Amino acid sequence: MHTAPPRPTDDKGTYVRDMFARIAPRYDAANRVLTAGMDEGWRKRAIALLDPPHGGQILDLCCGTGDVVFHLLRTDPSLHVTGIDFCAPMLERARERAPHEARGEAAFLEGDVMSLPFENDRFDGATMGFSLRNVVNIDRVLQETLRVLRPGARFVNLDVSKAPNRLFKRAFDLYFYRLVPLIGGMVGGSRQAYTYLPNSLTHHPNADALRERFERAGFADAGYVRLMGGSIAIHYGTKR
Ligand SMILES: C[S@@+](CC[C@H](N)C(=O)[O-])C[C@H]1O[C@@H](n2cnc3c(N)ncnc32)[C@H](O)[C@@H]1O
Repeated sequence: MHTAPPRPTDDKGTYVRDMFARIAPRYDAANRVLTAGMDEGWRKRAIALLDPPHGGQILDLCCGTGDVVFHLLRTDPSLHVTGIDFCAPMLERARERAPHEARGEAAFLEGDVMSLPFENDRFDGATMGFSLRNVVNIDRVLQETLRVLRPGARFVNLDVSKAPNRLFKRAFDLYFYRLVPLIGGMVGGSRQAYTYLPNSLTHHPNADALRERFERAGFADAGYVRLMGGSIAIHYGTKR
């Protein structure tokens, strides 16, 4: 394993990293308010779909302040979980939380998920929470994730998605594009950041298109589960 310093590969990467650096201190509080605490249940559901092997090595991509990492370890303290993220202030917060929240082995590493600093076939499972929309190149991240998983291991990705039902979509869009910037500005401390975050969904593939991207990257059994009328989706795939 090498630990070269992360280099966001273009302007979007730098923009995203700086934005998360600004909101890192209040990210957790804003998340709980913005999702009314429901994100906890979605994360649990994602981990249930991962079904990680007891004692396994799990990689959490774009770990941020560590929510998915801590959930994994609450589910099974025998897991060895590595969180990777390119934003140092988000990782700092994760490391602060670890002594109180990590029931087991959690390691946090600074790195870019577009170029994972791990050897092939290293992990027994991988997770990602609310982040695939933010990366510069989705296909590259999927290929990198596939590379570091051992054959038979699963990748589970939890994120907002495009609700198929028109009425539901309209209600969700009102919340996501109007209320999130307002509330995020107040609780999270940056209206600009919480305007970018919903907009990152606009150009993101819908659930079916994302499943196809999983397949094209080489994942077997690619599929997804819709939550909240499809405004949240959990995509999964297995390395052959
Ligand atoms: C919305 S936060 C999600 C954090 C966490 N997974 C969660 O569920 O709360 C998105 C995270 O993705 C990270 N990120 C975005 N692009 C990245 C990249 N190319 N490499 C590493 N981390 C990245 C950001 O720094 C940020 O911490």
